Amino acid sequence: MVKIQGAPQMSLAPNSGFVWGVSTSSFQIEGAARIDGRGDSIWDVYCREPGRVRNGDTGETACDHYHRYKEDVALMRDLGIDAYRFSISWPRVLPKGRGAANEAGLAFYDRLIDELLASGIEPWICLYHWDLPLALHELGGWQNRDIAGWFADYTALIARRYGDRVRRFATFNEPCVFTLFGYGFGWNAPGIADADALHRAIHHVNLSHGAALEVLRAAVPHASLGAIHNRQPCFPAGPNVDDAAAARHFAEYWNDAFPHPQFFASYPPALAKAIEPFQKPGDMALIAGPVDWFGLNHYLPHYIKADPNVIGATFGAPPPDVPRTTIGWPIEPKAFRDSLLDIHRRFGLTIYVTENGTASDDTPDSSGHVEDVGRIAYLQAYTNAMQDAIAAGADVRGYFVWSLLDNFEWTSGYDQRFGLVYVDFPTQRRIPKASARWYASLITGKRRPSVPQISKNSAEAITATR
Ligand code: FCB
Repeated sequence: MVKIQGAPQMSLAPNSGFVWGVSTSSFQIEGAARIDGRGDSIWDVYCREPGRVRNGDTGETACDHYHRYKEDVALMRDLGIDAYRFSISWPRVLPKGRGAANEAGLAFYDRLIDELLASGIEPWICLYHWDLPLALHELGGWQNRDIAGWFADYTALIARRYGDRVRRFATFNEPCVFTLFGYGFGWNAPGIADADALHRAIHHVNLSHGAALEVLRAAVPHASLGAIHNRQPCFPAGPNVDDAAAARHFAEYWNDAFPHPQFFASYPPALAKAIEPFQKPGDMALIAGPVDWFGLNHYLPHYIKADPNVIGATFGAPPPDVPRTTIGWPIEPKAFRDSLLDIHRRFGLTIYVTENGTASDDTPDSSGHVEDVGRIAYLQAYTNAMQDAIAAGADVRGYFVWSLLDNFEWTSGYDQRFGLVYVDFPTQRRIPKASARWYASLITGKRRPSVPQISKNSAEAITATR
């Protein structure tokens, strides 16, 4: 690890300016899929295709946040958070993705933002968390260069409508994940596995990011802008040279396909040649427009093996002695600390941790409480790792837990519970878990409950067989 000299020692104490928050996304919590004029997104269609999502789950009702947002903001108030990061559903505000806006959809976010502000919680808007309007997909979606203009127009609508009350905007959530899984591997909506589609999508998402930055800078006074990346160490899964090469290649797609052009105005070597045919003069300057912070979503390091897919690499198994969460993700807080320091060193920007958290097999006990000790152990270990990174010089100014509520976890459906608050989906009853109380006390700094450190034994409590 490179030692960073002279960096500020951030304090996480109350009133230090450090932002504590929670994150959600539109498709995963809102529900109300066919209400008040919302259009379909690619995920609505994907959920309807047999075998795509576990148990045939859909986002039709999700957490019914569209109707229960007041109750959910009250839960946030009880947590004592400073900020709430949510995404706008593009097809709710523009049912066809472009053209006529849907006033009822826009009004929902007015109500949400006003409720947040009245509760002393700062809204952080993410413009795109994977729910592309179906009508745009039918025109080629992220494979069509015109999408940069469509995205800029959508951004202008959002900026004009909410820019008087919101100044924190993220353009995209995890562009590497939705391009690779949606266009490269075919594991997520829209289910395409094609190298050409992947490379077009990567470039057009980057262009859309740059176009949105320009719109936001012009329209929103004191805008504070960033993109949210999923970026972490990619280790070879096995000792052979193929896995080592695959891990390096995978990292260029996963870690560099977006930050590299966005910060350095060029593509990493593995992508440069493949993307060249889609580039036009001026593209790279637009893509590399200035941002104010780096949004990091962190869950796990990757163990990569060679594979005959479109990029020649895929996920392998973590070492057998590494504890895992119920979704099978390795628990390695050191990789979080290392990622934060690596980002600090490479990009030299303020970092906000815009997602971190864990799935666990939560169920209410006989007295109705949800004692998610495994999640508390996880969050304790990861916030400690963040503090270590800050002590070593990383300029981390905020941390958002994924997620406020148990929600629709993409192809895992409702089986994987990531919330600080338990949701009983048949009744939509919310039950704050023990981890919600723990997080509230971490934020107020009044009481730091002692919790088990992550060890093989404590991790077994949250390790599943799935
Ligand atoms: C991230 C996604 C988020 C959620 C968490 C668990 O990759 O951004 O929507 O699914 O994983």
